[in-house]
Amino acid sequence: MKTQYEYPFYKSERGIDKSDKAIESEWNELEWFVMKSKILPQIKPGGCVVEVGGGHGRCGHTLLASFQRIIFIEPDQRRINVAKNKLSNYGGRIEYRSELAQEVNIPARTADAVFCIHVLQHVSRNVENTLLARMSDWVKPGGQLVLFVTKKNPGDYDYNIAWETETETHFSAIPEEVLSKIEGVFLKDTLLVRKVEVGKLIDRVEKQGFKHILSHAYTFAPKNILEKLWSRLLFPLPISIQHKVTSKLFGEHSQLDVALVFEKKL
Ligand SMILES: C[S@@+](CC[C@H](N)C(=O)[O-])C[C@H]1O[C@@H](n2cnc3c(N)ncnc32)[C@H](O)[C@@H]1O
Repeated sequence: MKTQYEYPFYKSERGIDKSDKAIESEWNELEWFVMKSKILPQIKPGGCVVEVGGGHGRCGHTLLASFQRIIFIEPDQRRINVAKNKLSNYGGRIEYRSELAQEVNIPARTADAVFCIHVLQHVSRNVENTLLARMSDWVKPGGQLVLFVTKKNPGDYDYNIAWETETETHFSAIPEEVLSKIEGVFLKDTLLVRKVEVGKLIDRVEKQGFKHILSHAYTFAPKNILEKLWSRLLFPLPISIQHKVTSKLFGEHSQLDVALVFEKKL
């Protein structure tokens, strides 16, 4: 039986513009820079791409520039409805599957590529294992896998949680042992983010028959305090330079996310 799933609806997910024009502007500026300048140049165009946890469909437009069709998996019906509305111009090129990716039925070797953008950090390690195995099964030999995840830096707690009050969104970092005590009570209306140790994730993906091609760690500088600093500069710096400066100044700890590309071995 199909599992009902609702992704927590927290403040930063509000105010989604459903028009076609908004598609690129839905990306965080730096994240779009990473996608466009680091990831897309690695992607081999093809017939079918599977998008795991497609959300509101912000990647749809971009993926259809390289692939003939998308199998769009998104278990939250409310989110899939937004995506359908936003991507309505693409009609028959998108097949929507309103299911959890661990439950969906897709034949082996269907896809030239699988994109899974900011999904693995919202599932447990066990589910992550299942998803990696399934994604490996769906990709053809020589095909590609793209993952974006939240990065665990040295000294970081294992999880972040986000919740909202009337006026604000709050974030808090929590260790594994605290999470196990509050689970089920506190987590109902919060967004739980499991931070991922990148080297270990790469090992786990490689065990599923992939070769690691590229990792690009990046910051969310424009969205945090640094944004305020930049905006005070007389000549705001281009996003690529901001990225270099924050990485240099704050090293590992300024890199909150990572984008990874893999290729399925022949
Ligand atoms: C942070 S959002 C990212 C959405 C989209 N990939 C993007 O980058 O805009 C995470 C998405 O993963 C979906 N999701 C969570 N668990 C999932 C699972 N087990 N299988 C497929 N999708 C899942 C959620 O419903 C949500 O839409």
